[in-house]
Amino acid sequence: MTRPKALVAGNWKMNGLKGAVDEIIKLNDLVGRSDAKCDVLICPPVTLIGSIIQLNLKHVSIGAQDCHVKSIGAHTGDVSAEMLKDLGCTHIIIGHSERRVGHGENNVIVNKKASQAQKFGTTAIICVGETIDEYEAGKTLEVIVSQVKSSIPSNAIVENTIIAYEPLWAIGSGKVPTVGGVEEVHTSISKVLVERFGSEGAKINILYGGSVNASNAHALMSTVNVNGALVGGASLKADDFFNIISVYDQVD
Ligand code: 13P
Repeated sequence: MTRPKALVAGNWKMNGLKGAVDEIIKLNDLVGRSDAKCDVLICPPVTLIGSIIQLNLKHVSIGAQDCHVKSIGAHTGDVSAEMLKDLGCTHIIIGHSERRVGHGENNVIVNKKASQAQKFGTTAIICVGETIDEYEAGKTLEVIVSQVKSSIPSNAIVENTIIAYEPLWAIGSGKVPTVGGVEEVHTSISKVLVERFGSEGAKINILYGGSVNASNAHALMSTVNVNGALVGGASLKADDFFNIISVYDQVD
């Protein structure tokens, strides 16, 4: 069962003023001139999405980092999935650990947000990951399997679902799990997806995220059941991010 093209996605988090749009224009040029065998997505802060989408970039898709659980209403400061789709977003990151931890988003909320993203025609990139305490207690697989099962909404289909495995202790820390560790988790996620969606579930991309950089990307992206990356810090500069994307010149 072959998956769609791998996806290398950049999560800019709360970084980027107007001038940062130039990095995306540069990235689009680099990808356009390359032989990249993966799809490329940037999820900038919501303030930049509209102006970037107006550029009609051909080689970089644009996504968002979060959406509200509801589609409309009195929710000051929030943004709905429908608004993001209306802007032109193709993907929405849902349940990033910085939202699970910093904004109290549990699996129930993540499930509702993913449902909104999918209902309005975007692909939900559903994030899961264990804490350092869970990792050290040997509970990684138990935690991840439970998060994946409860976070995928009932309206999800294979085509609008992506899972990103991001161990919390690997985010922004320079630490990454062993390749064997990543393979074990991704293979468990893949099994859950096949249980849920039947054999088609094996087509869902499972991204790895957490301190991905140009030096470790090849090993991580060649790992069984790893179908791309969700990159934070190393996605902010076009050259750095392109070095990660270029790994897909060598990885099938
Ligand atoms: P870093 O690549 O900066 O570790 O961030 C990973 C991440 O959280 C992407 O969503």
